[in-house]
Amino acid sequence: MGEATLVLVGPMAAGKSSIGRSTAKLLGLPFFDSDRVIARKHGAVPELFTTLGEAKFREIERETVAELLTDKGVIALGGGAIIDPLTRADLERVPVVYLTVSADVVAGRLKRGNRPLLAGEPEPLERWQTIFDERRGWYEQVADVTFDTSSGPMQHVAERVAEWAREHKA
Ligand code: S3P
Repeated sequence: MGEATLVLVGPMAAGKSSIGRSTAKLLGLPFFDSDRVIARKHGAVPELFTTLGEAKFREIERETVAELLTDKGVIALGGGAIIDPLTRADLERVPVVYLTVSADVVAGRLKRGNRPLLAGEPEPLERWQTIFDERRGWYEQVADVTFDTSSGPMQHVAERVAEWAREHKA
């Protein structure tokens, strides 16, 4: 454990996958997205929530993250991965970038994508905010650095993340 080069955490729709992919390209490293890895092995994430339930999804997510953290690369974690205390403990040993986003900006981003925790919610933005408020302390706890993704192109954020990674010999 501890071989991962850089880990991205943050709430749903903070831009972890998009910025992670660009950052990996800039650093010449492979990119892994925990939800994608889970989907490849176990099936689409929204379906896992429906068929197995959230608790089982979290078990699968924990196993997947533990495995991914042994690889060298840029790793984007699903927004809820930091709920797991073992994952939080693992993250103490690797460089962790926390991506934030304002609620106004997230409203637009939530219209795209299929997010099981917000599915069927009459007020998805309020639900997003509640979930974020519950987890904020954990994101802050595991983070080594924070970048906000609310304004400007994602590529610019990726450049700043890559620069930080190089300086911190990630
Ligand atoms: C979740 C976030 C999702 C995905 C799942 C649960 C969460 O990933 O793992 O829907 O608990 O915040 P993104 O953060 O990439 O949307």
